[in-house]
Amino acid sequence: MESAEDAGVYKLTDDLAIVLTVDFFTPIVDDPYDFGRIAVANSLSDVYAMGGNPLTALNVVCFPQGMMDISILKEVLRGGLDKMREAGVILVGGHSVEDPELKYGLSVTGVIHPDKVIHNNGARAGDRLILTKPLGTGIISTAIKGGMADEEAINKIVISMTALNRESSEAMQEVGVHACTDITGFGLLGHAAEMIEGTDVGMEIDSTAVPFFPEAKGLAEAGMIPAGLHRNREFRKKMVEISDGVPQYLQDILFDPQTSGGLLIALPHEKAWILLEKLQGKGVAEAAIIGEVVAEHKGRIIIA
Ligand code: CO
Ligand code: CO
Repeated sequence: MESAEDAGVYKLTDDLAIVLTVDFFTPIVDDPYDFGRIAVANSLSDVYAMGGNPLTALNVVCFPQGMMDISILKEVLRGGLDKMREAGVILVGGHSVEDPELKYGLSVTGVIHPDKVIHNNGARAGDRLILTKPLGTGIISTAIKGGMADEEAINKIVISMTALNRESSEAMQEVGVHACTDITGFGLLGHAAEMIEGTDVGMEIDSTAVPFFPEAKGLAEAGMIPAGLHRNREFRKKMVEISDGVPQYLQDILFDPQTSGGLLIALPHEKAWILLEKLQGKGVAEAAIIGEVVAEHKGRIIIA
């Protein structure tokens, strides 16, 4: 791993490499079956972001034995297994430990051609940036914990977080792109910053073009801000310049930590609309062009 890549890649032969990643976390929705599906979609996402094909997985489970009904864990694992089946991934084992808090995720192994790895730092000046899922899952999950999220908002983020990034990954491989990463804990701007850190390009993002769940606006304004959001902003403040015209709630959303978020893709401008059309054809309806890669202000992101 040369830079902060999404997954590890190990070359076996000249035309075969394995892609490895592990991810697990505490529940972010109340329904255990949904949590299982989300955790698996999230774990597979790093493989899809690199253009890989996930094949096998190991369950990683932490469970508060004696404090929580075992039927809850069964539902989590059932959700996970259903999502793996959808993705064509085979569960080959796993490990569980007793822990005060329920946690679930996967260790995933996939395959990729060593010459076709899509790195996160390959963006070039003139590229367009495409984001494939709306933002705001962190703010809405925080509202769920605070009892402030309505049913409709919860349904929307569950649909989004359980959606595999497989179709988006296939579409970008068909079109050919320069760079990709998936949006998770560091938020859109944190992962965008990773893409250009140490490179000779900068980014310009049009905040009005960024897709987000409309419910996140009111909830952010009501103070449903996850702790990770502040950390994300603090961590990247030297690389990010947000114009005063961008409303505060939208600034928050741009740093909102995501679970099982979309792909952020950099590709030549003449291919951007082709990919967008392909994505929409595959049901990735909310994908949008949100900005571009520039030769100016290298290592910095300007948001207007
Ligand atoms: Co990632
Ligand atoms: Co990850």
